Amino acid sequence: MARILITSAIPYINGIKHLGNLVGSQLPADLYARYMRDRGHEVMFLCATDEHGTPAELAAAKAGQPVDEFCREMHAVQSKIGDGFRLSFDHFGRSSSPENHALTQHFAGRLADNGLIEEVSESQVYSHADKRFLPDRYIEGTCPNCGYDKARGDQCENCTKQLDPTDLIEPRSAISGSTDLEVRETKHLYLRQSKLRDTLDKWIDSKTDWPILTTSIAKKWLHDGDGLQDRGITRDLDWGVPVKRGADNWPGMEGKVFYVWFDAPIEYIACGAEWAKANGKTDADWERWWRTDKGADDVRYVQFMGKDNVPFHTLSFPATIMGSEEPWKLVDYIKSFNYLNYDGGQFSTSQGRGVFQDQALDILPADYWRWWLLSHAPESSDSEFTWENFQTSVNKDLADVLGNFVSRVTKFCRSKFGEEVPAGGSNGPAEEKLIAELTKRIRAYETHMDAMEVRKSAAELRAIWVAGNEYLQSAAPWALFKTDPEGAAAVVRLSLNLIRLYAALSEPFIPDASAAMLAAMKTGDNSWPDNVAEALTALPASHAFEVPDVLFRKITDEERESWQERFSGTRD
Ligand code: MF3
Ligand code: ZN
Repeated sequence: MARILITSAIPYINGIKHLGNLVGSQLPADLYARYMRDRGHEVMFLCATDEHGTPAELAAAKAGQPVDEFCREMHAVQSKIGDGFRLSFDHFGRSSSPENHALTQHFAGRLADNGLIEEVSESQVYSHADKRFLPDRYIEGTCPNCGYDKARGDQCENCTKQLDPTDLIEPRSAISGSTDLEVRETKHLYLRQSKLRDTLDKWIDSKTDWPILTTSIAKKWLHDGDGLQDRGITRDLDWGVPVKRGADNWPGMEGKVFYVWFDAPIEYIACGAEWAKANGKTDADWERWWRTDKGADDVRYVQFMGKDNVPFHTLSFPATIMGSEEPWKLVDYIKSFNYLNYDGGQFSTSQGRGVFQDQALDILPADYWRWWLLSHAPESSDSEFTWENFQTSVNKDLADVLGNFVSRVTKFCRSKFGEEVPAGGSNGPAEEKLIAELTKRIRAYETHMDAMEVRKSAAELRAIWVAGNEYLQSAAPWALFKTDPEGAAAVVRLSLNLIRLYAALSEPFIPDASAAMLAAMKTGDNSWPDNVAEALTALPASHAFEVPDVLFRKITDEERESWQERFSGTRD
């Protein structure tokens, strides 16, 4: 039995996320966590909300709430949505937790002790009306290059020129519109991650099994980008982790907080401590996942994330850990994803374009979404959600193939043999052939799941469902029954056992349907089919079952059209 630590990129707190966010990290992480648990491994699956930074403060202000209250409420909302999609986190924490405050301050102290922190004086724009320093992108004005009047302090979106806020003509606050701005000197902490370039370079080079998408982004930032420039890790904001050097005050840093991208990945670790606290566990219980001096040296740590997150996970966060010179667990494998687009364009929060997570669950149960999203995961390239494709996948794969199999077998058995597994007959060549095919396919499915090849896994699982359907279709117990009732009983017995086998294999993708299949088969046995022939005898003759409700309903053309219209973003 192995021990597997799994984290999903932690979603920002400011608002409900769309389906692209789900398929880009949390959902495939859940697939992997469920699969590993089903295979008998010990899993720790952690996620949290990413609660700091200017966007969180502004979203709270827009909602007319104090930021801590806003975050508390939004954490509950996101947590409920996670439950809705059946994300099986061991803990869904908060980056604003006391545990993360302490750990973030601890890391900063260690980095400072190791000579990796530098104090830098900077000039920054202060807005009197907003009573705050403004991050570059929250300053607007006229572009000195093209005259565009809504250029931002970091870049002009019209002519793409990189700007400094002081370049703007007639600068104003993007928050309040106020022009009462002043340039002030202020001190910030910089993490000297450039000192770790060689160490990081060697570490990345040692990761020969990582996906190309992951290593190519890391290499690009290490070498031709400016990714490994020393970076500021403090900000002039009210909301965040106060800058401290371990437990001590940091002279000159009063009123400042750590930059959100410094504390967010540390929350992966702090989340373990939150899990311990929430579950009455000890420090040793979470440290055995996170400290290589306390048992985590035989943990395999896998991270899931969208491609935009890769630089932070391949360079910045490892720099924090390595720079601490403490034995924290480093990531072993990074699974990254491209983007999911929506119906010929992008998801857009501001335009209400695309399906958001709460809306998705209002329309259809979790399994429908899980199946489509995972079987179309944007792995080798970006992928696209269209309603036609969604309708086709659900109606074919889930309703026609899997759902129909379950309903046909159970209904036929009920009508001819009653609601229990029939006795009589034995396996013939058709059954042997099916067992051989399933054995081959299940081993392939395991290989793909072990490798986190999400689409290939889904395709193999679908093929496993299809194999059962084709077997049933050609064995045709409804015809056989007239001449050879014993033979028909053997076909039905095997097919009822296939339902249990499908429940076990499908659990990582469609956990609710899996549970419904097990309940219909009146068994709690969802053991993995290491030996297919044996697995297909788990339910013996005279074992009772019941005909379940429809597992998956079809999506009608009218529904498809009305949803397409409703989520097009052309009206609110
Ligand atoms: N909140 C970030 C995003 O949604 C992800 C943070 S991941 C972590 O892009 F490493 F910082 F935790
Ligand atoms: Zn311009």
